[in-house]
Amino acid sequence: MTDDELRDRAVAVLTTNHRDGYTVPAIGLYPYQWCWDSGPIALGWAAAGRWDHAWSELRRLLSAQWPSGMVPHIVFWTVGDSYFPGPAVWATGREPATTGLTQPPLPVSAAARLFAADPDRDRAQSEFGGLWPKLLAWLSWIERARTGPHGAGVVVHPWESGMDNSPSWDEPLAATPSATDEHIERRDVASVAAAERPSQKEYRHYLGIVEALRAAGWDTERQPADSPFAVEDPAFTAIAARAAADLASGGEAAGFDPREPARLAEGALAGLEALWDDALGWYRPYDTRAGRFAGPVTSSGLVAIWAGIRDERVARMVSRVDSWRRTLPCSVPTTDPADPSFDPIRYWRGPVWVLVNWLVADGFNRAGLTDRAAQLRSDTHAFVTQGFSEYYDPRNRAGIGGHGFSWSAALTLDWLLA
Ligand code: DGY
Repeated sequence: MTDDELRDRAVAVLTTNHRDGYTVPAIGLYPYQWCWDSGPIALGWAAAGRWDHAWSELRRLLSAQWPSGMVPHIVFWTVGDSYFPGPAVWATGREPATTGLTQPPLPVSAAARLFAADPDRDRAQSEFGGLWPKLLAWLSWIERARTGPHGAGVVVHPWESGMDNSPSWDEPLAATPSATDEHIERRDVASVAAAERPSQKEYRHYLGIVEALRAAGWDTERQPADSPFAVEDPAFTAIAARAAADLASGGEAAGFDPREPARLAEGALAGLEALWDDALGWYRPYDTRAGRFAGPVTSSGLVAIWAGIRDERVARMVSRVDSWRRTLPCSVPTTDPADPSFDPIRYWRGPVWVLVNWLVADGFNRAGLTDRAAQLRSDTHAFVTQGFSEYYDPRNRAGIGGHGFSWSAALTLDWLLA
């Protein structure tokens, strides 16, 4: 396939998934606006030359921000019954209806990138200027309401990490209550094989946490205390640290005071470094309820690279990733293939994700490992020429999960074809 054909196909996916000013991650499976997806999707629109769509993606998302600064993980712009759990289950009382959780603040970094690259400087200044206080309020809320004992970012639900069923969460999730409501109407498994999705048992716990937070009244200032699940997550923290650093540099260029985001970046980075497990040579989540580090080597720790970490730590993680290539030809699996929890087709328990590869390749470049970054880019290119799947089987590159997946298409435009 030529690059022009690949580009046309990627633009076609985004166009099909585009709605009124925002883009759904995948038709059927994810029919609303998802928070962290909006970041790469905005970058994809910009790479396609659709700056109007790029900015409006972020504007729409941030227009659903809560007064506390929290930006919700799903915004239900339309009413439908094709997704579970829908607005009635969340019952957050917000207009537009949203969930009561957040997701990694990738849209902040996307906004800074759009500001730097938009050829129309007046538009860039006015769009970024409009977003600036909201983006800063989001990151300030994360620091204020979501900082754990190591100074890292706390997620109060696996859905907040974006890596829902990662083995990173197995232990803390097992300690949460199962939903009392028996009515769990999974819609995801209507379009994707159940073997490629979280288990029913996991769903019962996901809903159990939602019930607890709902009963506590969705008080976003105190969710780590209200939730039966409260875990410091390396990937969430890394994305928050990088978001704050990107906001500081974008803000400075736009004439805003960069000191507050610069301070937030420093704090988040220190928290991230405190999650380094030197014996393992990897960043690890910390279960604040149990008071211990949890889980095997996963993409949650690997994504620390995106924040900009010390070279010797990058080197230790890289040598482990290299060792996986002996058994698995396609990089990067989201769970250590030697760990018993590894599953090559089940969502975040092993499959390759374009987003993770993009974050990691960027980190390689920042660490001066440009050959490895180029290698990961060409590996990823080989995946997407098979189609823009949600994720891929690392044994054979088969596209699995949802199809016509927006961020796989968007990052093809922004990264693989750039
Ligand atoms: C899902 O529905 O699987 C999403 O990941 C939840 O955010």
